[in-house]
Amino acid sequence: MNQDELKQAVAEAALAYIKPKIDDDTVLGIGTGSTANLFIDCLAEIRGHINATVASSEATAQRLKKHGIPVYDLNAVDQVDFYIDGADECNRSLQLIKGGGAALTREKIVTAVAREFICIADESKLVHTLGAFPLPVEVIPMARSHVARELVKLGGDPVYREGVVTDNGNIILDVYNFSIPQPLATEAKINGITGVVTNGLFALKPADVLLLGSSEGVQTLS
Ligand code: 5RP
Repeated sequence: MNQDELKQAVAEAALAYIKPKIDDDTVLGIGTGSTANLFIDCLAEIRGHINATVASSEATAQRLKKHGIPVYDLNAVDQVDFYIDGADECNRSLQLIKGGGAALTREKIVTAVAREFICIADESKLVHTLGAFPLPVEVIPMARSHVARELVKLGGDPVYREGVVTDNGNIILDVYNFSIPQPLATEAKINGITGVVTNGLFALKPADVLLLGSSEGVQTLS
């Protein structure tokens, strides 16, 4: 199976995972990216049974609405039961790097609210130590140079993602050559830099379940 087929397999596995748990009050959080898009397309099959969703990006909200799936502002719902999203990297502790699609802040906010975070990824995303994928950091524009200097002090090589403005009006620095053996400490340290909105490490609140697609099938890690 190629990567696209593995993404399709985990999208279908996520639908199978949540379908028996959905009722009339369920609120679904929906992530961003190509794997999440495939999940949205699967979700369209049961659109009549979807009470409400909240989206982690404008692009996701548009795709959900195009399928006729109801989308609400996060502030308009009392709870988020399941959050389903992809990842750029994951480890066996279900800690993640996210933000390749620049949606990390809204993804982290929906994750913070969700009762269960179901991560869907193909096996190419599984690593022993996070950091081969450059770590995205969302930054208030006027703080770009300051934050970049602080990230260099931490040992990384930050690169400004040219031409990208997040849904929140901010910029992204991608930190290259930055191995992350201690994700919890690194997530907290980077978030403590003045001018950082958030970083793409999801370690303080990792995924609850990882549906990992491989040529042997979809494994469930929790
Ligand atoms: C977007 C993300 C995505 O989940 C991540 O980039 C994975 O994307 P894809 O499913 O396209 O590989 O964090 O900000």
